[in-house]
Amino acid sequence: MRRAVTGALEEAGRRGAEEATPEHLLLSIARDSESAAAFMLEHAGVAPATIEKQLDASSPRGETPRQRAPRFSDAALTILEGSQAQADAWKHRHVGTEHIALALTQTNGTDAAALLAREGFTHDRAEAALRAWYDQGMPRRRHGVARVAVRSPAMRAILRPLRWLMHYPTLAWNVYIRKSVGHPKFVTDPYPLYRKLRERDPVRRDPLAPVWILTRYDDTFTMLRDPRFKKDPFASIRLPPQAREQLDVPMADAFRASLETVSMLFLDPPEHTRIRSIFTKTFTPRRIENLRPRMQRMCDEILDRAVSRGGGGGGGHGRGATLELMSELAAPLPVTVIAELLGFPPSDYAKIKKWSDEMAEALGLNPTLEQQAAAQRAREEMRKYFDRIVEHLRTTPGDNLLSALLAPEAEVMNPDELFANSVLLLAAGHETTTNLIGNGMLALLRHPAQLDDLRKHPEIIDTAVEELLRFDPPVQWTSRVAGETIEMRGQQLNRGDICLASVGSANRDPAVFKDPDKLDLRRQENKHLSFGTGIHFCLGAALARMEAEIVIGTLVHRFPNLKLLTKRPRWRKGITFRGVHSLELGL
Ligand code: HEM
Repeated sequence: MRRAVTGALEEAGRRGAEEATPEHLLLSIARDSESAAAFMLEHAGVAPATIEKQLDASSPRGETPRQRAPRFSDAALTILEGSQAQADAWKHRHVGTEHIALALTQTNGTDAAALLAREGFTHDRAEAALRAWYDQGMPRRRHGVARVAVRSPAMRAILRPLRWLMHYPTLAWNVYIRKSVGHPKFVTDPYPLYRKLRERDPVRRDPLAPVWILTRYDDTFTMLRDPRFKKDPFASIRLPPQAREQLDVPMADAFRASLETVSMLFLDPPEHTRIRSIFTKTFTPRRIENLRPRMQRMCDEILDRAVSRGGGGGGGHGRGATLELMSELAAPLPVTVIAELLGFPPSDYAKIKKWSDEMAEALGLNPTLEQQAAAQRAREEMRKYFDRIVEHLRTTPGDNLLSALLAPEAEVMNPDELFANSVLLLAAGHETTTNLIGNGMLALLRHPAQLDDLRKHPEIIDTAVEELLRFDPPVQWTSRVAGETIEMRGQQLNRGDICLASVGSANRDPAVFKDPDKLDLRRQENKHLSFGTGIHFCLGAALARMEAEIVIGTLVHRFPNLKLLTKRPRWRKGITFRGVHSLELGL
């Protein structure tokens, strides 16, 4: 019901209408292919396309499309009240799309009612269709399951809902996936759901939209390396609003589009090849390695401060001191490193972090208008600041990335490209590494034997960081668009379909990793996909690895009594990036 209501407001908004009318309501329920109303309309032979065509003809589009119309028309409100009456008449406790469909057939004088009457969707036929919906167990497709006689009435009562689900596995599975992805438990621990998807629905099409969900290693690998899969920053704009909401695809498209059109993360060859090669020439392993002593010093200073705050202790050990890992170390260190690497003066880091955070907010789930406005403001302020810094570095170059990119011998990028890709480095370079440190430390503290092994054998830090990356990756999903018809595990992906691949799930695929749910810091065969693969393989992988090695290695070796004081860490919302809000450690 909620989806039908918001869908109608969004439909009206998209068409530039001031009010959502009964026609927008009708279109919204007809389009939601899983709804009872869609079944009823289909049962009576009324196709959504027919409704859409007739509505297009009768209600021309307004001038300025927007995300949502601000209100309902009086006629639409009458329909919504009528649907409550229909639910009462059928003795239903909840109002659903089926009651809207029934109410639409009983209200005269609207285009929607006229259209339905013309199509033969009378009240009697609507009621007959609703009965059919119940008779068929509310599914779109039926699957036969053998019945077993259960004699006890109590047992029958318990089994009834289960039997329904067993009887209609497709419906049950869809309900399960929807409920699971939206459930707070999914954010806390997505891995059980990944396993179920990998095992029984590895190439899954979303019932609402042309979106595929891939969860096996091989398919994720193919999606990332096969040139038939493209980057398409505008793909999400084509999705219906309900699908965007359900799939956690952000709405702030205007903002996204302005940045993404020129940042390498969202480009295909040949544009991608040109920009990426400019950055690989300047973002060299030597430049990264040179940062090591500075990073170690920064880490030591932060830990020294925490120790002295706690009263200090022999040999630099904590003894009673505490550290909020995320805000005190895991967040400030990577942002300082990347800002310094690019060439921004240290006095501006707080300002830069605020701008990056505001811009990142607008890329979350359904940002508010205020968040979108704040992001736009941050971007404009940052652009002015950035242009000033660039001007300064042109005349007074330093030993940093921006100076190297501006050097006369460097290949030229236009100012928008330089800005968008520098912002990409800033954004990609801190949140992700912060979460690698947070998720990594949490995994270690929850596996004391592994932590002990690392403490006794500092030389395994390389494989340890790789395993922590595999075990709980900071980036859980990545996406592409099918550039042509593609066959995958017997399914046909059409040109333009969106593909979301779960890196988190691929990393736990038993076909590739032995005992995938086990944390094994000495794992040798570890081809995890946490940094992606192929032409978009993470440009900052070496830097992220070094930061994690330094921070995790130093914490583990300096503090032999390290303790996790946060009993139940709170995970950040959203399914793409995975990390905790805070993690209190006893040193
Ligand atoms: C643990 C930390 C990090 C993780 C898990 C991570 C993850 C990823 C992933 C999965 C991709 C590929 C996305 C795709 O194929 O669609 C990627 C690309 C990228 N990453 Fe990272 N990243 C991390 C740190 C960094 C750092 C520190 C930087 C920069 C300083 C960085 C810069 C980039 C850039 C520029 C790209 C785009 C490359 C391209 O499109 O050619 N990342 N990253």
